[in-house]
Amino acid sequence: MTNMSVSAQAGHLDIDAERFRRLFDREPMEFSHNLSGLELFKIESLRALAKIMDEHPGDYSVTSGAASGGTNFFSVPMMPYKAHEAIENLDGGAFRILLKRPENHDPRFKALMLDLYEQVKRLLGLDGEKLVRLEGAILITSAATITPFHYDPEVGIFSHIEGEKIYHVYSPGVIRETELERFSICGPVALAPVELDGRDPDREHVFRLTAGKGFHQPQNAPHWVETGSSRSISYTFVFETEAMRAVARTRLDAEGSAEKQRAFPHPTEAAGIEGRRRLEWRYRSLHGRLGTSGCFLTRFQFDWDLRRLAWRYALPGVDTQV
Ligand SMILES: [Fe+2]
Repeated sequence: MTNMSVSAQAGHLDIDAERFRRLFDREPMEFSHNLSGLELFKIESLRALAKIMDEHPGDYSVTSGAASGGTNFFSVPMMPYKAHEAIENLDGGAFRILLKRPENHDPRFKALMLDLYEQVKRLLGLDGEKLVRLEGAILITSAATITPFHYDPEVGIFSHIEGEKIYHVYSPGVIRETELERFSICGPVALAPVELDGRDPDREHVFRLTAGKGFHQPQNAPHWVETGSSRSISYTFVFETEAMRAVARTRLDAEGSAEKQRAFPHPTEAAGIEGRRRLEWRYRSLHGRLGTSGCFLTRFQFDWDLRRLAWRYALPGVDTQV
């Protein structure tokens, strides 16, 4: 493949910079993009990609649709189809095809993802951040198919390519601290199934995504998704910086006390907050509970993250030696 054909796939995200910086990783936010026009996302290209992925079963999944948004995520069966077979059968059932990490199978997707990430980085001013994870995914879904409620432990930049997708996404603050600790603190997690019942309807955002529309999904923002009356194609990439990972492990309910909310600074905020007291408060609060959990590895990881945060924000008086 020539460099020319790689760079010819120029993707552009049209995001309001000021709003993005204000809402980033706090609230879902809509934007526009041009990815729907790229050759890469035409169904013929995706068929070819799916055939390559057939040989890499760890990099795709084919799952049935759910009965409702509140269905338990892992009760929905996997389907015994290869990726390209599922694309051929989209009209014959309710299929959800996830092509993971296409950038590892076609350099054009890698070039696209790196370029889009650079755009996001520039918009947010994240130049000094150390990137610890960057991954893409393509979602191809039958008409009228539901993905049940869950949250993902990473920031997402989601672009809709074809068809219609109705995305019901809540602010990350609706995730209770007990849920966060259950799914995040006692080990790494790829996806966290949670219950839809009882979530505050005022914290729900509903995005009706058509070709050229997208939205930013904060880390741990729970969501359920339904497709419209035709085939749906979306592309998303997720990323984590070192500071974002540390903050996520300690994120609190946004409805909590003001002191709790200020316990950690937001990654895009300037350093220099009066952070030491808050950091210590949070440390004592969590460390006390972790100390009785018997989860040694977790406690060690938490201590390490805390020190990294203290170091990053140059908070005086916190021992930053790991
Ligand atoms: Fe998700």
